[in-house]
Amino acid sequence: MKKVLTYGTYDMLHHGHIRLLKRARELGDFLIVGLSTDEFNAVKGKEAFYDYGTRKEVLEAVKYVDLVIPESSWGQKPEDIREHEVDVVAMGSDWEGSDRFEYLKEYCEVAYLPRTEGISTTQVKDELSAAKAEEKP
Ligand code: CTP
Repeated sequence: MKKVLTYGTYDMLHHGHIRLLKRARELGDFLIVGLSTDEFNAVKGKEAFYDYGTRKEVLEAVKYVDLVIPESSWGQKPEDIREHEVDVVAMGSDWEGSDRFEYLKEYCEVAYLPRTEGISTTQVKDELSAAKAEEKP
């Protein structure tokens, strides 16, 4: 059984996320998502619209996802790889060459997958806010 691990916030799940999860799952037989906790997002200077429990519930309903674990620190990845016997860490190509993932090549394979153009949670939030602002008299 080949195990794949990916990380992210997965707030307001969109088709870019789904395609990434599909591609990651296709690299193996079992997909684990390390889902950023609300506390870890605060460390990263991010605030998700949906809380951790809700984001986890939504991700667990995605057919490509086999297991969701909390991501609560930058440094936990080697331990996650060891504990879950991970073969491949897969991330979107926005992370290609990043120090945050490159050093994991010491522990397992690291793959960067194509991102979907023209969509991100930030973009959806910004577009909704702009549309709302335009509505105001
Ligand atoms: N992702 C992707 N294509 C997109 C958006 C995200 O492949 N258009 C991937 C990212 O590369 C990452 C995973 O989805 O591997 C989770 O990304 P996340 O940062 O949670 O989603 P974003 O929509 O990029 O959120 P934000 O705008 O808050 O950064």
